[in-house]
Amino acid sequence: AGAAAGPAAVQAVPAQVSAAPKEVTVLFGSQTDNARGLAKKFAKKLEESGYLVTLSAMSDFKPNGLKKARNLLILVSTHGEGEPPDNAISFYEFLHSKRAPELSGLRYSVLALGDLSYEFYCQTGKDFDKRLEELGGKRLVPRVDCDVDFNEPAAEWMKDVLSSLGEGTGVQTAGAAAVSLADTGAEPEYSRSNPFYAEVLENLNLNGRGSDRETRHIELSLEGSNLKYEPGDSIGIFPENHPRLVEELIQAMGWQPEEKVAAGKSGQLPLREALLRHYEITVLTKPLLEQAAGLAPESGLKELAAPGHEQELRAYAEDRDLLDLAQDYALKGIPAGDFVKILRKIPARLYSISSSPEAYPDEVHITVRAVRYESQGRDRYGVCSVGLAERVQPGDKLPVFIQSNSNFKLPENPETPVIMIGPGTGVAPFRAFLGEREETGAEGKTWLFYGDQHFATDFLYQVEWQRWLKDGVLTRMDVAFSRDTDKKIYVQNRMLERAGEIYQWLQEGAAVYVCGDEKRMAHDVHTALATILEQVGGLSSEEAAEYLTLMQQQKRYQRDVY
Ligand code: 2AM
Repeated sequence: AGAAAGPAAVQAVPAQVSAAPKEVTVLFGSQTDNARGLAKKFAKKLEESGYLVTLSAMSDFKPNGLKKARNLLILVSTHGEGEPPDNAISFYEFLHSKRAPELSGLRYSVLALGDLSYEFYCQTGKDFDKRLEELGGKRLVPRVDCDVDFNEPAAEWMKDVLSSLGEGTGVQTAGAAAVSLADTGAEPEYSRSNPFYAEVLENLNLNGRGSDRETRHIELSLEGSNLKYEPGDSIGIFPENHPRLVEELIQAMGWQPEEKVAAGKSGQLPLREALLRHYEITVLTKPLLEQAAGLAPESGLKELAAPGHEQELRAYAEDRDLLDLAQDYALKGIPAGDFVKILRKIPARLYSISSSPEAYPDEVHITVRAVRYESQGRDRYGVCSVGLAERVQPGDKLPVFIQSNSNFKLPENPETPVIMIGPGTGVAPFRAFLGEREETGAEGKTWLFYGDQHFATDFLYQVEWQRWLKDGVLTRMDVAFSRDTDKKIYVQNRMLERAGEIYQWLQEGAAVYVCGDEKRMAHDVHTALATILEQVGGLSSEEAAEYLTLMQQQKRYQRDVY
C-alpha cells in the first residue's frame, strides 16, 4: 500500500547493446537515513547484477558528474513542508538553477519517500522527477512514492528499475525478481521490518512537581540483540494505541471486539488487538478519507472528499482521529473487515537516543515528552509518548529498531570544538555526545545551550551537566528559562549575548549541532547564527547564508529537528 505511480508512462528507450558494464549513478538525499539505507542496499544489488555503480549522497556529488551519467537513480525523502532534506539542498538548488546541464542522454528514475499524513507528500521526489524531465532526461520507470511503510514499494521499484536497465543488453537480470528484504545479507538481524523486543529497565519523569511538562527518561536493554548504534542515532518504537480510544471506536462503529480481521504479517487478529497494535487510528490522511467516502456513500463524506475541497478536507483532518470521523459522519455499520483494509499500519516513532553506547553498553536511553492537548472538545494523547508515560513499566518489552542518522555525528577529530543547541527534549543527543566524549577522553571544547520553561522543574539532566562542567567534559553551558522572567528568553537570545565568543569558536573550526523543534526554534537559531556572522564577522547577509551552507556541506553544521 502507499505506492503511487508517477504521472508519466514509461518511455520507450532504444536499447544500447554493449559489452562494457553499464554505469548507474545512485544519489540519495536523506534526513533520517531511510533513503540512504535503501540506496546502499540497491547499489549493492546493482553491483551484484553486473553494473558499475556510483553511490553518493547528493551533498557529496559533484554536479559535473551529471554530464557523464547515463543512468541515474534518485532516492530522496521530503522534509517538513515539502522541503528537501539538508543533504539534498545544494544539489536540488543546482538542478533547479540556470547552471543545470541539458540531460537528453540521461535515463533516470526517482524513488520518493514521504508520509501521507503530510500535505506535501513526497514533494521533493516529485520535484526531482519533473525537473529531470524538463532537462531532457527519459524515465527508466515511473517514479514511485512511498508512505512510511516504504520497504515493499521500494523493493518493487528496484525490481522494475533492474529489469528496465537490463532490457536489450547483455546484463543478466534474472536476479532482479529476487530483490527482497530477506536477501540483503549484511543487514543486522533486527530491523524495522523485524523489530527487537527490548526490555524496559527504567521509566522516570524528569520534570519536577508543578511543571507543565512530563518528560520521561526511559532505559531500554539491547542485550542479546546484537544491535549497535552511535551517538546521534535514533531508535524506532512501534507504539500501541490508547485502549480507551480503541474501545470507543469499536462502540461508535458497532463492531464486535473479538471478530477476526486481517492484520498484515500478524495474520488474523481479534479486532481489538488489531486496532491496538497494528492499525493507525489517530491520523486521517487524504486517501483514507476518500476511501471511507467510498465505503459510506450516503454519509456526506463524499462531498468532503470530492475534488476541489482539498483545503476543507485538510482542515477537517487536522487534529481529528477515526473516532471523530465515525461520529461526525455516522459511519456505524461499515463491516470491520472492510474498514481495516483502508487503514495504514501504525508507523514507528523515532526518538533521538540520549545515551552513549560507550557509557551504557547494551542500553538505549530516550527522553520523551508526553504530548497531551485538547482538540474538538476532547483530550488527545500522543500515541507513543503518552503510551510510554502511562502504560509502560520496567519489565515490559517494546518492539524497537535502530535508525542510524549519518547527518548527526560528532566530528571525527576529537579535538574539534563542539557547540550544541538543544532546548527541551532536543538536549537528548547531547547527553549521548558528552557521554561519548567523556568515555573516549576526547579533548575538544564543548558548549551547550539549553532552555525550557522553568529552572526549578524543567532542567532535564541538570545533575549530569553540572558534573560534566566540573570534570571539564563540558566547557561551557548557557541556559534560557523562558517563563522565569517577565520577558521570554530563548536559547538564541543567549547565543546573541555570546556572539563574540561563538564567532571565535567558529573561527577555531567548531561544529554546530541543533536538535529540537524545527519550525520555531531551529529557524530562529539559524537566523541567530547568521546574525553573529554578520555582526561580529562583518559578512553581508548573502555571505553569511553562504557560510552556513558551506558549513552544512562540510558537516560542520548539523541538525536533527522535528
Ligand atoms: P516557551 O514555551 O516558554 O515559549 C523548550 O520547549 C523551550 O523552547 C521552552 O522554553 C519554549 O519556550 C522554548 N521556545 C519556544 N519557542 C521558541 C523559539 N522560537 N526559539 C527558541 N526557543 C523557543
